[in-house]
Amino acid sequence: MSGQTKPILRAIKGEPTAHPPFWLMRQAGRYLPEYRTLREKAGSFLKLCMTPELATEVTLQPIRRFGMDAAILFSDIPLVPHALGLDLAYQDGEGPKLSPVQDRAGLTQLRPSIDLDQLRPVYDAIRLVKTELASDKALIGFAGAPWTLATYVVEGGSSRTFPTVRRWTKEDPDGFAQLIDRLTDAIAAHLIEQIEAGVDLVQIFDSWAGAIADVDLDRWIVQPTRRIIETVKARFPDVPIIGFPKGIGLATTIFVAGTGVDVLSIDPTMQLDFAANMLQPTVALQGNLDPDTLVVGGLAMEQATRAILDSLGGGRFIFNLGHGVLPPTPPQHVADLAEIIRSWSPPRQ
Ligand code: CP3
Repeated sequence: MSGQTKPILRAIKGEPTAHPPFWLMRQAGRYLPEYRTLREKAGSFLKLCMTPELATEVTLQPIRRFGMDAAILFSDIPLVPHALGLDLAYQDGEGPKLSPVQDRAGLTQLRPSIDLDQLRPVYDAIRLVKTELASDKALIGFAGAPWTLATYVVEGGSSRTFPTVRRWTKEDPDGFAQLIDRLTDAIAAHLIEQIEAGVDLVQIFDSWAGAIADVDLDRWIVQPTRRIIETVKARFPDVPIIGFPKGIGLATTIFVAGTGVDVLSIDPTMQLDFAANMLQPTVALQGNLDPDTLVVGGLAMEQATRAILDSLGGGRFIFNLGHGVLPPTPPQHVADLAEIIRSWSPPRQ
């Protein structure tokens, strides 16, 4: 067979593409009127995730409108701790709420291993999306990283300061390691199941990696992520894995070397010079437009987008935001962004 036809997979390998491929984290969601309509009809966010026909429809909505090079499965990261036995609920506008596990004794609330049957609708949604997605578009599966999931499990939901989980790592690191180990096994199993159902690549979201002290980075971020990647690669050596250790700055070099990710997703604080000179020679990059710039649009967005493309577009690169699309984003700005990316050509040397 000749080379890969999906531009995202080509770009990861360093093969030429007509323009830098792109997709956007959180490209499905509340900024799209068609999402809000379906979300209202479904009644609950969980029902949207757990009904394959609805999850498929929401997954495809942004592709129909903007023609991104990849769809990302519509789902959510707390479904993994939910399938480990923790109650999960969504309150409007507040994000996920989990029954918290805050110490070693609390670990008894978790099943010994993940109940993959509970997540069957997720895998069915993948099969359904694959029947509808054009052959040049990739489908991305995902999971939260162990540390980021642990922040939700321990704090019982979203947090800005992570007081309880940070204290647990210091007071009883070996007990906390048991939580991380359970999550690590569950995430690997969930990713493998998504790949078996048909996703072309996967992303591991470590959205709160920046909340960890540098001395603890290896134990709670790098090693667990490495173990997931080894487990997945043992089954599917050719499926690319994107890592997104948001907010760790220069330690991204340690993350890349220690985990073996195929693609590093960089956040908006990452300097483009550093990314181009110190990171891109060793790993494919993805990122990193500031989501606020997409809300603003216009010339500011055009200049920021071109700066990213001029720095990184000549190497192994997938254009993306540095974090998820924000709900106040005007859909027209996403259409404008797509046009800027598609019409970009490398600056003359
Ligand atoms: O389009 C996509 O990217 C695919 C779907 C997706 C969702 N969540 C849908 C969602 C993905 C990849 C996620 C990942 C996710 N979920 C992360 C990692 C990425 C990141 O943003 O840092 C995190 C930390 C979560 C946890 C989560 N889920 C939070 C904090 C919230 C509330 C904040 C918010 O944006 O509403 C959710 C809910 C959620 N997940 C929504 C969507 C579309 C909104 C639900 C609604 O309709 O009200």
